[in-house]
Amino acid sequence: SIPILTSLAEMRQFRDHARTHRHRLGLVPTMGALHAGHAALVTQCLADNDATVVSIFVNPAQFAPHEDLATYPRTLPADATLLHTLAAAHRTVDAIFLPSVQDMYPSGLAQHPADQRGTFVEVAGYSHLLEGRTRPTFLRGVATVVTKLFNAVQPDRAYFGQKDIQQALLMRRLATDLLCPHPLPHNVRIVPTVRAPDGLALSSRNAYLSPAERAFAPALYTALHAAQTRWRAHAGRTATLATATHLVSSAAQRALEHGVTLKLDYVELSDPETLEPVPEHSGPPRETTLSAPGSARGTAAVLSGAMWVGSTRLIDNLVLGDE
Ligand code: PAJ
Repeated sequence: SIPILTSLAEMRQFRDHARTHRHRLGLVPTMGALHAGHAALVTQCLADNDATVVSIFVNPAQFAPHEDLATYPRTLPADATLLHTLAAAHRTVDAIFLPSVQDMYPSGLAQHPADQRGTFVEVAGYSHLLEGRTRPTFLRGVATVVTKLFNAVQPDRAYFGQKDIQQALLMRRLATDLLCPHPLPHNVRIVPTVRAPDGLALSSRNAYLSPAERAFAPALYTALHAAQTRWRAHAGRTATLATATHLVSSAAQRALEHGVTLKLDYVELSDPETLEPVPEHSGPPRETTLSAPGSARGTAAVLSGAMWVGSTRLIDNLVLGDE
């Protein structure tokens, strides 16, 4: 089975060993409760690198006090089994990094963001947009923990999912801004979103959905997809977003008849570099691919949204001009 490194010291030892053998090291940061979306990141990492580390750490700093830290699914045995089955280019996962909260936050961690001490990382300009509007401490928590993981693991490459597009784009900026050791700043890879057959983006939080809720959960993807079609037909920003909003509200009406509440949190059409809303007419789609490193610059727009299904908040996005 895969070695589990439960301390910073063991992680450092593993890192030194990889360096001695001139192994290119890839890192896949996760919070566990692994599914096929995580598996896609790991498989890509295995294909690209000599050695692969998957970190599993449910990061308290990215949860607000009222959020689901206590109930977040923790499924280590199943996670280890899933990781054990993954292989690419004749390589398998070399280690699971499973640090303690104490290891990751030597200055301690307060329950409330306002009482926090110690060092936190903020990517200015990103934190108040999109996810940051509803979850103001989330992006700071993510930027902080991933900086720590970069320092602990010192990977040559790191893998993030397009499903959390704001997080993934933030990592590229963070690795560049914080002068992370070469070659990491060029090697923050974004892996396409893995979906269920009905379009729902796979997510650890999907486990919270009742069968009735699960049936209506693809509404956000369906709405984003319809909006994308509208945008491709040269609709402006307002009309594109209205299409998505309208589709979610009609799905919400149908859902209500089945006792399920759907509520749109936001949909937005954003610049892929700044994540600021794009101008009303941002021009025809440009041909680019987000998955190539550093290529988000040429992408026309990120169409993203968040929707409540009962008490579960789901997010999704499509990168327009990336087809
Ligand atoms: P977690 O939600 O466990 O996700 C770990 C990685 O898997 C993230 O990069 C996420 O974007 C990716 N992922 C999740 N679902 C996916 C899907 N359906 N398709 C493709 N990729 C998917 O995101 C986090 O953890 C945390 O914020 C973390 C980065 C680990 C920092 O704590």
